[in-house]
Amino acid sequence: MRASFRMIAGCGAFVALAAAGGAAAQNGGTAAQTQYLAANCANCHGTDGRSAGGIPGLAGLSPDYFIMQMKAFKENARPATIMHQLAKGYSDEQIAALAVHFSRLPAR
Ligand code: HEC
Repeated sequence: MRASFRMIAGCGAFVALAAAGGAAAQNGGTAAQTQYLAANCANCHGTDGRSAGGIPGLAGLSPDYFIMQMKAFKENARPATIMHQLAKGYSDEQIAALAVHFSRLPAR
């Protein structure tokens, strides 16, 4: 009984640590974490968000605009071919970190 209580308390500490990690991501995250998330966008939006084709680039977008678009995709408020599905896979904290990341990259 005592041992299992200690295990549950231990899990609580882990969750608290994970939450602290989320808070860090909100402030831009560690470079590695955000780089990993941003890599998922490169296939369509180009390396470092600099698009070569018909898909809009992400580099240099203002964080406000970026976050607004991702929110609109999530809520199906902006018509999309694919982004409405993709956006739903990212938390608000991850989107905020990505917004800061792409805004710092030069558009050209
Ligand atoms: C499978 C291809 C694909 C991937 C992967 C992808 N996108 Fe997109 N993205 C699009 C397309 C296509 C659009 C144009 C809207 C639409 O039709 O869905 C778009 C539009 C956007 C826009 C709006 C840009 C603007 O100028 O208004 C943002 C912001 C965005 N994507 C962010 C992301 C982020 C962040 C990721 C990675 C987490 C990502 N996208 C991954 C295809 C993709």
